[in-house]
Parts: sequence; C-alpha cells; structure tokens
Amino acid sequence: MSPMRKSSPGTAAPTKERKRCPWLSFWVILVCALVLKACVIYGCMVTLLMGNPSCEEHKALPQGSAEWHCVMGRDEGKGRVWTCCPLGWEPFQTSCYYFSKDIMNWDNSQRNCTGMGSHLVVINTGAEQDFISNYVKRTVIGIRVENYYIGLSLKKGHWRWVDVTPYNETAVFWIPGEPNNLSVEKCVAVDTSQKDNRNWNNFPCIAPFHRICETAATNI
Ligand SMILES: *[C@@H]1O[C@H](CO)[C@@H](O)[C@H](O)[C@H]1NC(C)=O
Ligand SMILES: *[C@@H]1O[C@H](CO)[C@@H](O)[C@H](O)[C@H]1NC(C)=O
Ligand SMILES: *[C@@H]1O[C@H](CO)[C@@H](O)[C@H](O)[C@H]1NC(C)=O
Repeated sequence: MSPMRKSSPGTAAPTKERKRCPWLSFWVILVCALVLKACVIYGCMVTLLMGNPSCEEHKALPQGSAEWHCVMGRDEGKGRVWTCCPLGWEPFQTSCYYFSKDIMNWDNSQRNCTGMGSHLVVINTGAEQDFISNYVKRTVIGIRVENYYIGLSLKKGHWRWVDVTPYNETAVFWIPGEPNNLSVEKCVAVDTSQKDNRNWNNFPCIAPFHRICETAATNI
C-alpha cells in the first residue's frame, strides 16, 4: 500500500560525504520518512484489527467478521483515503451494507442490525437506491422471491425511518400502486421481482425476509 521498498540507505551518497555528515544524507532522510509513514499506517491497521476505539467507531462487528477490507477512494480535500468495511459488508459512498442470506421478521431484522452496530438501511438518495437495487438483483436466483427489509415502517399512521431521517414524500421508490393495505402491511421491503429501481413494497411485519443493514464506513 505504501512504497516501502525504495532504495537502501546511503547507496547513492558518495563515501566522503557520508563520513562527514552521515545523518543528513538525502537518502537517509527520505528512507526514514518512508519507514515512519509506513509504521504509522501499519500501526493504524493493527489497532483497527485489534479493535482499538481510537481508530474505529464500530462497537460490534458481526460474528465471523473480525477482519476489515478497505478500498481506495478519494476524498475532496484529504486526497486519497481508504474506505473500510467489516469483511462481508459492501462499501458504497460513506456507508457499509450487509445483505443477509437468512430471513426473519422486520423486528428481528432491525434487532439483528443493531446487534451488529448498525441499523436497517435508510435510503437517502437515488444513487443509494440504485446501488441497493442493482445489488439485490444479482442475488435473485431463478424465480424465487428474495425480498429485503429496509428501515422503513408505519408507526402511528406515519412512515418512519429507523434513524432521525424524516420521511420525504418526494424521495421515495414505491412500486406504482404501493403502499396499499396499510391496516395490515406496515413494514417495507425492496421487492426483487421488480425490474427497475421503483421496488419498495409494504408487507405484514411478520413476513420473513432478508435484510439490509447499514453502518458508517471508516475512513483512514
Ligand atoms: C445477525 O445475523 C447473522 C446472520 O445470521 C448472525 O451471524 C449474527 O450472529 C446475528 N447477530 C446478532 C447480534 O443477532
Ligand atoms: C425531499 O426530496 C427531494 C428530492 O430528492 C429534495 O429535493 C428535497 O430537498 C427533499 N426535502 C427534504 C425536506 O429533505
Ligand atoms: C391485504 O392484506 C390481507 C391480509 O394480509 C391480504 O389477504 C390481502 O391480499 C392484502 N391485499 C392486498 C391488495 O395486498
């Protein structure tokens, strides 16, 4: 990840000069700077893996995800950054997403996400909706219906996201004609039988579906 193996110290400097002033050699300083930088990066990676709270914000990693994987990205101002997600989670923009293989009702889905330091996905933008729609389409096998719960449900007659995000009537992706049957269908899932990205459908909350959990990515 960092150009650690450059040239060995001192080889380029003339012998005479090295005798007079060995520690001010350009190459010695350059190599020291590179080694120091590599050590800082390595130290941060190690503390990340060890779960040191100074380097990471996730309180609980999903079981079997003691590792992280990082992708190189760009951050305006900071230049290059690594966006890191727990192993098995998908990075997109500033978040990490977990697409479950197992199914459970909406309450248990949300409980499972919070148990992993995340929440059922909150969809804020069209780009995020497109990412999710494209991802779940790839998981559909044959004609099996593989719906995924999202963090939207009907509470006291109002649609509510699981975080503080207000429900925005103009930033929704319902299947045309949905939501319907509000007295019994109060939980929302991405319906993978849909071809385009207008795929939200409301279901009875006891229906067992897959889930999408979301948590903030860690940038280093
Ligand atoms: C959440 O579900 C995953 C997949 O079934 C499981 O491995 C994990 O232990 C569950 N975590 C919690 C906190 O329920
Ligand atoms: C609601 O969504 C529309 C379309 O994305 C956006 O232009 C508008 O600013 C949003 N309103 C609020 C209050 O977030
Ligand atoms: C409304 O919910 C009931 C009970 O789950 C179900 O039998 C019925 O088919 C639903 N109607 C529509 C239009 O989805």
